[in-house]
Amino acid sequence: MTDALSSPARADRCPGQSYTDMLNGDTRPAPDYLLAESSIPLDDEPLDPSRYTSEAFAAAERAKLWPNIWHFAAREEDMPEPGDTVVYEIADRNYLLVRQEDGSIRAFHNVCLHRGRLLRDHGGRAVHLRCAFHGFTWHNDGSLKEVPCPWDFRHLEGRNLSLPQLRVERWQGFVMVTENAGLPPFRTWIGPGVEHYDNWRLDECHTMAWIGRVFPANWKATAEAFMEAFHAVVTHPQILGFTADANSRYDLYGDHMNRAITPNGALSPHVRGRSQRYVLDKITEFLQGDGGGRFAEDGGDDLRGFAPDDPLLARKVLAQANREIFAAMDGHDYSAVSDSEVLDNFTYNIFPNFAPWGGLVPNIVYRWRPWRDVDHCLMEVRILTRTPKGTRPPKAPPMHLIGEDETFMTVAHLIGPGLAGVFDQDLANLEAVQKGMKASANRRIELAHYQESRIRHFQRTLDKYLGGELP
Ligand code: FES
Ligand SMILES: [Fe+2]
Repeated sequence: MTDALSSPARADRCPGQSYTDMLNGDTRPAPDYLLAESSIPLDDEPLDPSRYTSEAFAAAERAKLWPNIWHFAAREEDMPEPGDTVVYEIADRNYLLVRQEDGSIRAFHNVCLHRGRLLRDHGGRAVHLRCAFHGFTWHNDGSLKEVPCPWDFRHLEGRNLSLPQLRVERWQGFVMVTENAGLPPFRTWIGPGVEHYDNWRLDECHTMAWIGRVFPANWKATAEAFMEAFHAVVTHPQILGFTADANSRYDLYGDHMNRAITPNGALSPHVRGRSQRYVLDKITEFLQGDGGGRFAEDGGDDLRGFAPDDPLLARKVLAQANREIFAAMDGHDYSAVSDSEVLDNFTYNIFPNFAPWGGLVPNIVYRWRPWRDVDHCLMEVRILTRTPKGTRPPKAPPMHLIGEDETFMTVAHLIGPGLAGVFDQDLANLEAVQKGMKASANRRIELAHYQESRIRHFQRTLDKYLGGELP
C-alpha cells in the first residue's frame, strides 16, 4: 500500500503511511513532541521466561524494585477532602495516604508502630488513625495521639513515635509516592518526555470509571500485552478497519518512559483495498452504543467539508467531530489541537507499572500490581474525562472489581462494549501466556525489534534496578 502521502519505504518499518506521514497531513500543525522520533539502541537477545514465572525473580523485585520507584498511589479526586485516606498496597509494601487540613497530602507506611498490624484496612474518611488491634492512635498528620495503658509503655517515653513518612509529589492529578529518600524529584526521575503532558493537563480531568480485575498472569506479562499494537491483527481483528496497528510509532525516552502512538481513523496495513468511507463505517460500527462517546454517532455520515477522495479523510472527519463533541462536553477550546491529539491512542508507560495515556481524548490509565503470587496481577483501568470548565471535579467512584470468573463485558455499561470486548480478548491470551512460559522447552522469548521495543526497554530498565545500576 503506497500513496502520495507515504514517505520513502524504510526496511525497518511497516510499508504504507507512517504515523509521521499522517502528522504531515494533519489539518493543524502537529507539535514537535509528536513529530520527533526517539529511539535507544537495544539488543535482540531473547528473554528468559523465568522472569515472569519464578518466585526468586519476584523476590528480587520486592527487594530492589518496588521500594525504589515513584508509585502512582492515588488520584487527587480519590481523596478530595481533609481526612480522606487511600490505602495502596503493592507487592509486600503498604502505604496510607491522608489528605491534610491544608489540602496537602501525606503518605505513611500503613503499619502500626505497636506490633505491626496494618493501621488501616482500607481507605475512607478518618478523624484519626486508630489501630484496630489495641488502639494505638495517631493524628491524621502522623503524630502520635494516644497510647493505651501508657503506664506499660514508659520505655517508649521520649521516643519519636510519629508514623514514618514517604515522599509525596503531585503530578497531573496523580499522587506519586516513594519510600526512597534519595530518588530525584518525580519529573527529573522520569526525564525527557514527561513535558509532553504539560499540553494534555490530566490534572484538569477526573476519574469517570475505575475497573479492576485480577489477571491470571504475571504483572509484567500483562503490562507488556498493552505495550504493543502488534497483536491487534490476530487478537483484535474487529479494530483493523480503523486502526493502523502495524504503523504505530514506538518511542523510547531515558530509562523510565516510552510510548506507542497508534493511529485511529486509518486502515490497518493488514487490510487492503478499502476506502476511507469503509474506515468511517467501521469505527462508527465499533463505537455505536459505546458509552465512551469518543466519536460522533454521525461521524460516518457528515464529511464536514473534506474532499471525499482525501487519503486522510476519515482521520480529518473524526478529528473534527471529536473537537466538536469534546468542546460541547467540557467547554474547552479544541480548535487549534492537532487531529492526532483528539484521535489517536497515546499509550505512554511510566516505569514500571503505570500507563497514563496522553492526548486529549478521554484518557485511559492502566496500573498493574503483583497480586497473590507470580502468576497473578491486579490490572486497573481508569477512564479520565476532562472536568467541565468552571466545575469542581466529582469524587472518584470506588474501584469496581470484576470477579475472577467474570469478563469485562460485565462492565460494558461503564467503559463501553467496544473497549470491554478488547480487554476480554487480551485477558483470554494472558492465562495461556503464563502457562506457556512455564511449559517452554527452549526457555527463550523472542521480541520484534521495533514493534516490541518498548518491552525490551522496560525489561532493560528492570535489569538496571535488579542489578543495582538504578536508582
Ligand atoms: S498492633 Fe496496633 S495497637 Fe497493637
Ligand atoms: Fe490488546
